[in-house]
Amino acid sequence: MVSAKIAPSMLSSDFANLASEAQRMVNLGADWLHMDIMDGHFVPNLTIGAPVIESLRKHTKAYLDCHLMVTNPLDYVDAFGKAGASGFTFHVEVSKDNWQELVKQIKSKGMRPGVALKPGTPVEEVYPLLEGENCVEMVLVMTVEPGFGGQKFMPDTMSKVRTLREKYPNLDIEVDGGLGPSTIETAAAAGANCIVAGSSVFGAPEPGQVISLLRTSVNK
Ligand code: DX5
Ligand code: ZN
Repeated sequence: MVSAKIAPSMLSSDFANLASEAQRMVNLGADWLHMDIMDGHFVPNLTIGAPVIESLRKHTKAYLDCHLMVTNPLDYVDAFGKAGASGFTFHVEVSKDNWQELVKQIKSKGMRPGVALKPGTPVEEVYPLLEGENCVEMVLVMTVEPGFGGQKFMPDTMSKVRTLREKYPNLDIEVDGGLGPSTIETAAAAGANCIVAGSSVFGAPEPGQVISLLRTSVNK
């Protein structure tokens, strides 16, 4: 049985107080901290890069689950490795030709490789990345169009989670976008075990309660 990983998305945190926001989430029970890296090209939004990961790493030992919404992920592997990223998840849509090299380099920098797919990308596209020596260790199924927090969960994406869970019982399957108390049951029933949640956690009066509710649903 795969274990639940609850990963608050720091995109919804107060970036001016990132270290204390990260600590607050860890104290409230977060397993991972989800870091959204956007380059203003792969997605129409611009966020943070390796220097911020490096600064945050000085304040926390937490698992930094980095989601790279960038056109050229290979360009960033070295910097994120040096900065102290824990997981490096790149998008399959921009890595069709070089995913083997990417996975090799991610592992050589001591990070855990993951692959993400947008809502419109067929699940079959990640199958080759799950076979052989240079395989990824997590699949991130986007449940909204990447780019912004606070969007509505797309239930149609659950067929991809179900298909992956049937084929790979031990795989870490992450869902990202619109997850919270009203959508977690659907995602957990489909087989997701790594849950990213931004606005539902940071916007709640009691974020710790939301984190534990998400975990309870996955572990049911
Ligand atoms: C969207 C990001 C998400 C986002 C999730 O492109 O990948 O991680 O922060 O935010 P919520 O949970 O608010 O949908
Ligand atoms: Zn994300």
